[in-house]
Amino acid sequence: MDDYSRRAFIRTSLPGFLGLTLALPGITALATRANACEGRVPEDGAIHWDAFLEAIAGEAGRQHLDDWDEPRYVARAAAIARRLDLRSTELEKAFETAKGGIGDGRVDFDHLEKREDFQISFVQFEKGEEIRHHDHPGMTGVLLCATGNIDVWNYDEVRPAADQKALLLKQTAKARLTKADVSTLTSKERNIHRLEARALTQLVDIFAPPYTRERVRKSRWFDVDEEEFEGREGVFEARVG
Ligand SMILES: [Fe+2]
Repeated sequence: MDDYSRRAFIRTSLPGFLGLTLALPGITALATRANACEGRVPEDGAIHWDAFLEAIAGEAGRQHLDDWDEPRYVARAAAIARRLDLRSTELEKAFETAKGGIGDGRVDFDHLEKREDFQISFVQFEKGEEIRHHDHPGMTGVLLCATGNIDVWNYDEVRPAADQKALLLKQTAKARLTKADVSTLTSKERNIHRLEARALTQLVDIFAPPYTRERVRKSRWFDVDEEEFEGREGVFEARVG
């Protein structure tokens, strides 16, 4: 595990990054504890990193229960994320590390936490950088904009296109995120997205459940037509590739 330094992480591509996350339990293993107000988190106040982790852990841990409700989870996780104190020491370290990626012409990634039920990643875009259309098989995602300005388009798969090699994507959300804004996806809704930064942007991404070898293998990337399919508003033909 010592072969992987934080600097090494930030130099990798998204697929490479996802592969490396598989080894994470032995890499990060941060000692955490709820530390806001000696364990009591004020309802609307900013929360420190450790309290944030424990709050997310509490919500994400419910995914094993019969009454697990993804839309409710992402709404709660989004509310928690909006309260994260962006000056937390752990985030400051990530911001500092990410400086090394500025000017390298690619999106940069870092690991912040990985547990059984969720993982948290740090993603940095420079102006104009993008992550093309991709999905998150069986996963939820909560993206917190820590700094910057970024456009996020979300899509649902509506049905296979006629030739079977293609599929149709329906754009179901578009958001412009700035500091403390959040974008969410569930395994069923808005699961496919694309991101393009309008300025230097840093995101804190919460995935529940976390990436596994199987989920990385099932992840799909799409080449999507720019023109709408047969003139249908917000519908685009896409090919996996
Ligand atoms: Fe994504």
